[in-house]
Amino acid sequence: MRKIYIFDTTLRDGEQSPGVNLNTKEKVEIALQLEKLGVDRMEAGFPAASPGDLAAVNAVARAVKNATIIGLSRSREQDIDAVREALKGAEDPCIHLFLATSPIHRKHKLRMEKEQVLETAERAIRYAKQYFSKIEFSPEDAGRTELDFLCQVTDMAIRAGATVVNIPDTVGYLNPLEYGNIFKTLKENVPNIETIQLSAHCHDDLGMATANALSAILNGADQIEGTINGIGERAGNTAIEEIALALETRSDYFGAKTSLNLKEIAKTSRLVSKLTGMVIPGNKAIVGANAFAHESGIHQDGMLKEKTTYEIISPDTIGLRESKLVLGKHSGRHAFREKLIDLGYELEEESINAAFAKFKDLADRKKNVTDEDIRAMLEEKLTDTPEVFTLETIQVNYGNQSTPSASVRIRKAEGDVREEAAIGNGSVDAIYNAIDKVTEETVELEDYSIKSVSQGKDALGEVHVVLKQDEVSAQGRGLSTDILEASARAYIDALNRLIEKRKAPGRRDKMSLI
Ligand code: KIV
Ligand code: ZN
Repeated sequence: MRKIYIFDTTLRDGEQSPGVNLNTKEKVEIALQLEKLGVDRMEAGFPAASPGDLAAVNAVARAVKNATIIGLSRSREQDIDAVREALKGAEDPCIHLFLATSPIHRKHKLRMEKEQVLETAERAIRYAKQYFSKIEFSPEDAGRTELDFLCQVTDMAIRAGATVVNIPDTVGYLNPLEYGNIFKTLKENVPNIETIQLSAHCHDDLGMATANALSAILNGADQIEGTINGIGERAGNTAIEEIALALETRSDYFGAKTSLNLKEIAKTSRLVSKLTGMVIPGNKAIVGANAFAHESGIHQDGMLKEKTTYEIISPDTIGLRESKLVLGKHSGRHAFREKLIDLGYELEEESINAAFAKFKDLADRKKNVTDEDIRAMLEEKLTDTPEVFTLETIQVNYGNQSTPSASVRIRKAEGDVREEAAIGNGSVDAIYNAIDKVTEETVELEDYSIKSVSQGKDALGEVHVVLKQDEVSAQGRGLSTDILEASARAYIDALNRLIEKRKAPGRRDKMSLI
């Protein structure tokens, strides 16, 4: 079986999703989980974007030991120097250089002729070669680049010292036959093509990212670039879990495999969703809540008789273990510990004690504590963002014939406790107005979303918000059996992060690819 290398770009292209803003700690947390998943290569960010981005890439480079860590760079010396700085301490560093090659980008964005594009890219690759043994080069918008010019660009990149040439379908324009044909053409026409690896990088604007990447594999691609849950710029990137499961399930057809630890997929997907605040649609392939649910009577009957009638992947393959043990307020430590083992968590004694205390608290408020509740509770690790504000109490008055009002009691870092009340055009608005009065921060609520973690009227609710102040934005999360409390917690979490970010060295908000 041919090995397909997995290049994860959740922390770079994935972070370019609208509304997503990961801090350094969150990037490291995701990176360590990607390491457990077994990705071969990991693009940690774009160091030249800001000193904060550079620091985040450096933290990932130092934390991860078992994957190549990659920094993105435009074809400019100062970007390359930023990647050198960011990848100090990496076990296995690699630089990812890019320059647009399509006629549209050459004319309108770069204002360069073909010759200038070739010269600029070659100069950058040769400069980078002095410092990096591993160099990936991407002709941006390769999908809309003339095929003969793409062959010329690839030839130049090989001669200049690139070790991987990536073919981005930057705007998700191509269909599988066209995209596969690019790889076939490069393989047949570019001298010494066998000395480098060819990589596929697809976007999902027309819903073809996974199909295009699979077509690239059939036509000789060695590496697939993608993100967890398919997050990314606009409609997103190829979903890594879809590629991994397509190759696993249809190895008879593709004759290729990844070296991912598939049992880590569900956990990685949940973590990325939680930290980015990007909810996974129920019908999302592989990781959606309904991906293994069978609704119709005919299907259920078939499943009971023989699973393979309607199930081509077992939930267990991606690490989705459902345990039979139901926990509630009378469950003891022993049952709780068994549950953790069942769900695949290996915790130190101290962490089990802390988790058990949280579980007891939850069981007081909720009759049956489900597996999803326990996962959410365990994975709701406290951030190390200093708590400038901590919610102590919250009181809400709502009636459909009266103006909603709320009062909050908040402790400030200096120990000072303040209580304020406010009205609003809804309960959440009233809560947020009251919090604004206490904190005296002027912020804009850019995004608010809520989902239930499990089923039932007493399910845990998880709220995600994005706040903006001047040019800085930050996201926050809150979890509670009460959605108003979860809303308040999410808002305060975002405020604390915003304040921390204001102090941090120039972490930019969104990367600009020029
Ligand atoms: O989609 C794209 O073209 C990119 C490049 C930076 C590789 O993400
Ligand atoms: Zn991209």
